[in-house]
Amino acid sequence: MRIDIITVLPELLEGPFAHSILKRAEDKGIAEVHIHQLRNYGVGKHQQVDDYQYGGGAGMVMQCGPLVDCIEDLQKDREYDAILYMTPDGKRYDQGDANQLSMLGNLMIICGHYKGIDQRVRDHWVTHEYSIGDYVLSGGELAAAVISDSIIRLIPGVLNDETSALTDSFQDDLLAPPVYTRPEDFRGHKVPEVLTSGNFKAIEAWREEEAYKRTKARRPDLLED
Ligand code: ADE
Repeated sequence: MRIDIITVLPELLEGPFAHSILKRAEDKGIAEVHIHQLRNYGVGKHQQVDDYQYGGGAGMVMQCGPLVDCIEDLQKDREYDAILYMTPDGKRYDQGDANQLSMLGNLMIICGHYKGIDQRVRDHWVTHEYSIGDYVLSGGELAAAVISDSIIRLIPGVLNDETSALTDSFQDDLLAPPVYTRPEDFRGHKVPEVLTSGNFKAIEAWREEEAYKRTKARRPDLLED
């Protein structure tokens, strides 16, 4: 998989991709992430990428020209399966989206700033619009890092324990059950007995029950579908 991210703040993305699972995926040659500075396509001496909005109102809008020049430059080298725009008014991103996107080859992600990007780019170039939650971030970079992480960790070979992505919260519309590690007794707080019983059937049944109880208490909406 290859992900190309278009941003005016590449520095914000360097940290997340330099470490952890994303770094491991890059080192193994399973995924590559390329970050592109939109200002290189900016207009004039100041490499401007935004302008006042038509109709008046506070806040700048990212212009079509630099964005489309950058998109088309990238499209010269490869076809993209999806062009994502991170925006608080997009579809609420979930595990199902991560699963689907992880099966694609080339993704492009546009990070918005200010009041967002000119609607014409959204109408004619962008294929998917995602929000990572009902709150407003200063820009799309952190959202792009979040969804890249959620996608890349699903690609076979990225995680050491191949099965662990399958038992994540949300993969079966249930939250994950509680987990414990040594010691068995920490300051009088004991690990549930079933987990040390060696009875795998009973352990499996306990986990299912706990996952269900947790989901019912915290996210009853997941059980409704
Ligand atoms: N950009 C600003 N806020 C955002 C959000 N909640 N999700 C995705 N992109 C954003």
